[in-house]
Amino acid sequence: MTVRIRTADLGDADLTTFADIVNETTPDDPTSVEVMRWSSAAFPGTSRFVLEADGRPVGTASVGRIYVFPPDFDAFWATINVLPEERRRGHGSALLTAVSEQARAAGKVALHMPASDARPDGIDFLVHRGFRESERNKTVHLELAGMTAPSIDVPTGVSLTTLAERPDLIEGVHAVAVETYADVPGGETPMAAGSLDEFRVRDVDRPSIPAAAFFIATEDATGRVIGYANLLLQPPHRRRIAWHAMTAVTRDWRGRGLATALKRATIGWAITDGLDLLEAGNDTDNLAMRAVNARLGYVPSPDSVILRGPLVGGIMDS
Ligand SMILES: CC(C)(COP(=O)(O)OP(=O)(O)OC[C@H]1O[C@@H](n2cnc3c(N)ncnc32)[C@H](O)[C@@H]1OP(=O)(O)O)[C@@H](O)C(=O)NCCC(=O)NCCS
Repeated sequence: MTVRIRTADLGDADLTTFADIVNETTPDDPTSVEVMRWSSAAFPGTSRFVLEADGRPVGTASVGRIYVFPPDFDAFWATINVLPEERRRGHGSALLTAVSEQARAAGKVALHMPASDARPDGIDFLVHRGFRESERNKTVHLELAGMTAPSIDVPTGVSLTTLAERPDLIEGVHAVAVETYADVPGGETPMAAGSLDEFRVRDVDRPSIPAAAFFIATEDATGRVIGYANLLLQPPHRRRIAWHAMTAVTRDWRGRGLATALKRATIGWAITDGLDLLEAGNDTDNLAMRAVNARLGYVPSPDSVILRGPLVGGIMDS
């Protein structure tokens, strides 16, 4: 068998091949040509590889910066996917070497990789190579078929609007993100919202983050933004699914039902827009958000995890 790993370009052919393999291998975490093209424009520097066995594409990998951490963070993000019938032939290991080389060339010492309890072979593969769990997310979902939009109980003195109606509130939304990202449990390094420009590129101005589903809470007395909740539409694959990207409430307004109201607003939008399913993931320690989800009827899916581990290959190992 001849095995070749090549760098994928941003043309339709390579990106379609890449998306087909990812969507067959990890249907719970789909991608698309459009999403990858957007991501390469917004977050330059990500590399993608295609592994061909006897000329047939059977595996993919990607590697690049983790954009919720500062540029000097010591690890790169990476994904590896091999078609089920092609596993246990060394392809995953070859792709791990390829992404490790890329990370090493950028001065990094580790990789962070996503996996799921739904795919134990992926976790075993990483654990056997020195990776350890660094984050565990309790994933939950809500089936929307047959649901009617829930009524929204906004606390007294608060109004809800959307980014579509009030794009001028973006600076206030960013201020809420700066305060609340630091409070999100999970991992050893706190998430950072970054500058307004970085925040807009990553979390706001994306075709998959609808401004009409980006709900914003303001304090009537001052007009200050005190919370928001938004959705990230998944690339269409079998069903129309959205992920709860962020639900945030400033510290002084917590404990009064505002996160529940914001989340109900996004659920109502999703039902009206004809989505099939909503998904959310929260760190095991995020008891407040998990309680909100349970109260709203979300039920558990397999946990998603992030594993951190060493680069393979390099002069030390030869
Ligand atoms: C994780 C994943 C990429 C591994 O791909 P793979 O091509 O099977 O990887 P490899 O063949 O290099 O290694 C898998 C196992 O097969 C073994 N193996 C390799 N060649 C073999 C051979 N010829 N005969 C028997 N076993 C073999 C490896 O030693 C390894 O076992 P180990 O972990 O006990 O060392 C694949 O399972 C996958 O795509 N999973 C779903 C996606 C996913 O969850 N990704 C996240 C984690 S990266």
